[in-house]
Amino acid sequence: MCHENATLPRIGEPAPDFDAVTTHGRLKLEDYKGRWFILFSHPADFTPVCTTEFIGFSEIYPELRKLNCDLLGLSIDSVFSHIAWVRNIQEKMGVRIEFPIIADLDRKVAEAYGMIMPGESQTETSRCVFVVDDKSIIRAIIYYPLSTGRNMQEILRLVRALQTTDQHKVATPANWQPGDEVILPAPNTDEGADKRLAAEGQYCTDWYLCRKPLSAVAPAAADKGGCH
Ligand code: BEZ
Repeated sequence: MCHENATLPRIGEPAPDFDAVTTHGRLKLEDYKGRWFILFSHPADFTPVCTTEFIGFSEIYPELRKLNCDLLGLSIDSVFSHIAWVRNIQEKMGVRIEFPIIADLDRKVAEAYGMIMPGESQTETSRCVFVVDDKSIIRAIIYYPLSTGRNMQEILRLVRALQTTDQHKVATPANWQPGDEVILPAPNTDEGADKRLAAEGQYCTDWYLCRKPLSAVAPAAADKGGCH
């Protein structure tokens, strides 16, 4: 695929298909059906920022697994390089990397997901994160440059926020953390605005900005989302 002409993946659209060589054997998009996963790229094995990120990803991995969310790394390196690097991380830093890493030597996955930013590097993938849900739909995309390590707690928070939205049909405000109040979808009629202001058990700054504790969100609104 020609990178310049490729259609880049977008939020709300199906994740591009892949069939890749990884440190855990061959993995395909369809292997992830029914569970969430995060596909992330790093520039290169045996590089300092990437090493700190891999330690960070492995720290949040148990929490992600509890959310039915897997992790899948990627770079344009060989599977032998990946194996040597994860062994080095275990030997020197005592951290075992449990999740698979794609060896994308032919760049097929990197190009399908738009992970190479030629203005930054022609040979490395930037620090991209794709959150894909259990129906293989892209739910969030994060791009970071080569020089900046990602915030693992933000990635975890993002998955939790998306799953909360699916389960309860609510939105989450800036800096939301589990346990914080959530935001009710804004009404889209004048009558709905009146009703919203008259309703009890929620805290409205105005008709379009109402918050509620998640525990007080009506059960009827719950469990209609795509998260399991
Ligand atoms: C790093 O992981 O340290 C790194 C990789 C590529 C470019 C710059 C930094």
